[in-house]
Amino acid sequence: MVNKSARREGPCPECGFNYVRGLKDNERYHSVVHDREVNGNRTSEPNGFLFLTHTSPMRLQRLAGAAAASARSETEYDSPAFNAIKKRNDEFNTIAGINVLNGRVCALAVTRIRNCDTIADLRTFEPDELGGWWPARITTVEAHQRRTIEMIWVLRNYRRRGIANQLVHALAEHCEIALADFAHMTPFREDALRFWTSLNYWDIPIV
Ligand SMILES: CC(C)(COP(=O)(O)OP(=O)(O)OC[C@H]1O[C@@H](n2cnc3c(N)ncnc32)[C@H](O)[C@@H]1OP(=O)(O)O)[C@@H](O)C(=O)NCCC(=O)NCCS
Ligand SMILES: [Zn+2]
Repeated sequence: MVNKSARREGPCPECGFNYVRGLKDNERYHSVVHDREVNGNRTSEPNGFLFLTHTSPMRLQRLAGAAAASARSETEYDSPAFNAIKKRNDEFNTIAGINVLNGRVCALAVTRIRNCDTIADLRTFEPDELGGWWPARITTVEAHQRRTIEMIWVLRNYRRRGIANQLVHALAEHCEIALADFAHMTPFREDALRFWTSLNYWDIPIV
């Protein structure tokens, strides 16, 4: 006997969610996920940047957490860059920035203080077989603590409009450091390599 449901199961080409066409509950759940993944998580926060830590209200942390989950499923990193969780003492001094546009969260950047002892030349990054990009030329420096960008992500439909650029500048201002002073978590994805290269600085601290 042919299982009709199984035949109609498959990922949505736009949001990637796997569901069974024709099953009401599946379709309903897909439409919720689809709207969030394609249009961004809904929020009543006004347009602009919001900067959060693990002491921020949970309703705001959850916005960053949802964006981090979307970023993780796209980048296939092991874990999301931000989880909504109350912490009185955050040893990494996490600061996440999100961008709200027309009632939707459309971008995320996450930073933490990390130990850094390497400078890499952005022009020498090369891909591995998994799509991660690593520097071929590095210099070792004395180990020090440095605020590090661990994730930068913009909702697909909002890319190439300068949103990541505005977000990282706003984040640097909020963190009171120069943009060039952030370290960066490696490996990069190709999008990130192209984005950072566009900012015209070459020797970047990496973690
Ligand atoms: C990387 C990313 C955050 C860039 O966001 P964005 O808002 O599109 O970036 P901007 O519009 O601010 O880009 C500024 C400039 O960077 C360069 N740039 C950005 N993305 C690029 C890409 N994919 N290819 C080539 N150049 C790119 C361009 O020079 C661009 O200026 P232009 O559009 O006038 O040519 C986005 O592509 C993304 O979320 N990718 C998926 C998640 C990811 O890989 N994150 C990094 C994990 S290491
Ligand atoms: Zn979908």
